Amino acid sequence: MSSNLSWQFTINIYNKIYSFTILIQEITNYEKKYQHIFEPFTVRRMTMKNRIMMTPMGTNYGESSGEMSFLHINYYEQRAKGGVGLIMVENASVDSPEGSNGTTQLRIDHDNYLPRLFKLTETVHKHGACIGIQINHAGASAQSARTNMQPVSASDIPSKAGGEIPRPLSKDEIMRIVKKYGEAAKRAQIAGFDTVEIHGGHSYLLSQFLSPITNKRTDEFGGSLENRARFARLVIEEVRRQVGPFFPIFLRISADEFMEGGNTLEDSLEYLKYLEKEVDVIDVSCGLNGSIQYQIDANHFPDGWRSYMAKAVKERFGKPCVTMGNIRDPHVAEDILARGDADLIGMGRGLIADPEWVNKVEFGDVCDIRKCISCNIGCAGNRIGVNRPIRCTVNPNVPDGEGYKKLKVNKPCNVVVIGGGTAGMEAACTAAEVGCTTFLLEKKPNLGGLAAEISKIPDKKRLADFPNYMIHRANNLKNLFAFTNTDANVDFIKNLKPNIIVNATGSSPLLPPIPDCTRTLTKKAEKLLLS
Ligand SMILES: Cc1cc2nc3c(=O)[nH]c(=O)nc-3n(C[C@H](O)[C@H](O)[C@H](O)COP(=O)(O)O)c2cc1C
Ligand code: SF4
Repeated sequence: MSSNLSWQFTINIYNKIYSFTILIQEITNYEKKYQHIFEPFTVRRMTMKNRIMMTPMGTNYGESSGEMSFLHINYYEQRAKGGVGLIMVENASVDSPEGSNGTTQLRIDHDNYLPRLFKLTETVHKHGACIGIQINHAGASAQSARTNMQPVSASDIPSKAGGEIPRPLSKDEIMRIVKKYGEAAKRAQIAGFDTVEIHGGHSYLLSQFLSPITNKRTDEFGGSLENRARFARLVIEEVRRQVGPFFPIFLRISADEFMEGGNTLEDSLEYLKYLEKEVDVIDVSCGLNGSIQYQIDANHFPDGWRSYMAKAVKERFGKPCVTMGNIRDPHVAEDILARGDADLIGMGRGLIADPEWVNKVEFGDVCDIRKCISCNIGCAGNRIGVNRPIRCTVNPNVPDGEGYKKLKVNKPCNVVVIGGGTAGMEAACTAAEVGCTTFLLEKKPNLGGLAAEISKIPDKKRLADFPNYMIHRANNLKNLFAFTNTDANVDFIKNLKPNIIVNATGSSPLLPPIPDCTRTLTKKAEKLLLS
């Protein structure tokens, strides 16, 4: 070997060792980057493999009998497969019809519901996730149109403006409902759940007793914070009696009700001292029906904005806490845990939009996360707004999952999609993913359409996550060819020999028809869009 060649050989070896070292460093740094997210968490006899908990979210996927449906089980299984540490199943009724909430709500007030609930826990456990269920009585939030009876509450005050006037519960009735909670928790344990969460927030029965807005009683269940907390305390004690010492109990509260005259964070820290004893984890939510923009966070709130509330609860009681609220970015989740503000990260809509969120963070494909944009249209809009089963604006695979990717076209197929907005990109990506040669034509210089434009308005900036994700997904597909600055004229399209043409030329932006405001808004929006 000439000295030149041997020199070259040494350099090559050196380069390879160097690249390998960098790779190892990157892997190690990556692990370090999210080490708090992937630290296991043990409470009583439950050990979660990581710190991500899917928060309870009503889906309207249940059977009309209140039984868990197979669609339901499949929906939760996708999230378990996606790597989440704990799934807290949506609020299930401890006492129907009186305490029921929403169409096709799950029920856990009879042993008849055990077989399907067991099927669910068995399915989720197969994937290494823990599973709990939220137990609830809706109180004044139940509707007589569905239940055929007047709703009940602490006092005769509706749980939302214009809601039905409820009937105050007698002491005997309170004690009957306490027993119902205990029986429901026991049933959850028998069905194979690892934990239960008692719902003490969000304008349901226990929250109606806790809140001075809806509790005007003068007996031992009203007045002082201790009295208002009495019902919840009896429930917690009964649940503990039923489930024994090894079973973890979560309690969800609205730590700040964000309503005039309602409980503040300071008030909640006060009443929690009557509740915390038998509670293992405090799930620190916020907001009531009248302040739902805080409870199901509006999109302008930054990721993790409410972790200060969990921090305050944790500091006061030294108990593990859950925080949630628009947490989509893994760095934010990691920072909250690293700072010790909370022990668990609750993720609701983020996991509707992307069931694989945890796996993508763990295995390094963070750019592949389909982030929820907190639009509240597909999920809350359907479930709460119009009583329909949930869907998702950014994830058309809710509830079925991505099974379509296994289907492939069995003969060559050219697809031309006209319009590179989010709908056009979704159509183009789907076509390419099932094996079609796909051409995406966009008249403008950039992909992303209206969503990309609107996201330039500061309060709407979260919207940009959607087109950005779609562009990233499209870029990774080798059989998808995107043409920007391209007019979709007949000759151009004919040359692409399409078997299928998709027209996705978009929609028109809508401004509220408020005379002066519209003009000002338009000008302001125009200025922002042009900047
Ligand atoms: C469609 C929908 C249904 C919900 N149902 C419940 C529920 O059953 N119980 C509950 O405590 N919170 C419920 N929530 C609130 C979520 O659990 C969560 O706290 C909230 O969406 C904020 O977290 P996120 O930004 O991660 O979604 C629901 C939210 C949505 C969007
Ligand atoms: S519908 Fe909107 S808010 Fe709901 S999960 Fe999907 S993107 Fe998020």
